[in-house]
Amino acid sequence: MSPFLLTRTLPVDATDAALRADVLQGLTRHPKTLPPKWFYDAHGSELFEEITRLPEYYPTRAEREILIDRADEIARVSGARSLIELGSGSSEKTRHLLDALPVLHSYVPVDVSESALHGAAEALLAQRPGLSVHALIADFTGGLALPGTPGPRLIAFLGGTIGNLLPDERAVFLKSVRSLLSPGDALLLGTDLVKEEKVLVAAYDDAAGVTAEFNRNVLRVVNRELGADFDPAGFDHMALWNPEHEWIEMRLRARRAHTVKIPDLDLVVPFEAGEELRTEVSAKFRRDGVRAELGSAGLRLDQWWTDSGDRFALSLATAV
Ligand SMILES: C[S@@+](CC[C@H](N)C(=O)[O-])C[C@H]1O[C@@H](n2cnc3c(N)ncnc32)[C@H](O)[C@@H]1O
Repeated sequence: MSPFLLTRTLPVDATDAALRADVLQGLTRHPKTLPPKWFYDAHGSELFEEITRLPEYYPTRAEREILIDRADEIARVSGARSLIELGSGSSEKTRHLLDALPVLHSYVPVDVSESALHGAAEALLAQRPGLSVHALIADFTGGLALPGTPGPRLIAFLGGTIGNLLPDERAVFLKSVRSLLSPGDALLLGTDLVKEEKVLVAAYDDAAGVTAEFNRNVLRVVNRELGADFDPAGFDHMALWNPEHEWIEMRLRARRAHTVKIPDLDLVVPFEAGEELRTEVSAKFRRDGVRAELGSAGLRLDQWWTDSGDRFALSLATAV
């Protein structure tokens, strides 16, 4: 079996420092916010996998359909010898791509969730013992230092995760991806598309309440890591469509007025009854918008594929 390499590109205490900074900044402003990357401890990563199997959560199924249909074309056009996947999670859908890439040398999954990287590498190596897997525990918004794997390289960013970045963050992120591409390399980008509000809202507010638990998980992470005393049950899960920005917002609404103590930050955070904490945006896209955002980062949209229901799109882009 090929060796599995796990590299932490962040110092061990960087996650802690970043969480402290985000919590301090996000909970002392109005309206209160927390960035979505803190959902993903081991339990959050498991809950996300559960979400991908829910009847309401169409994006995973739609993107998988495109990957199955287009994997051979993507393989032919990219000729990739290295596949780098940002926010790879379980790498479950990626298998379709890995199977189609005949000359693949290395797979580099990049994620903040160490447990997700371990699980993914274990499952992949059991099925593909010859694959070289070099997993990176890293924040894809923080300037990535990728291992020197052979080109051409295909950088995949699937799941619509780019929609979790705000527009100015997306601009910075796409420029940083552009800086990683050499001639012959390509970006494969998954974007969820604008559609009927009730379909979108249901995808983030499922009947079984799994997304609600996922949303509340960020409070459990802050409790565990910073000694806070959030009562997750004291917050209602909300998923709202914002038509101006064309994004879904997930929020946690305090059921009653109370205060939360965060001893590690020496902070007491007051919540009014009904006060909302924004935990995620999930932007939905249109083809022209994706083309424009790629263009602003020095990337050209070469291919645009959608699923049979026109719900989700995969773009293939190269450096201009
Ligand atoms: C919406 S899930 C998508 C997972 C998978 N790509 C899919 O399509 O099913 C987002 C993934 O990105 C990871 N993630 C979120 N923010 C991140 C960040 N700033 N840097 C690295 N990984 C991040 C999460 O741990 C999670 O695995």
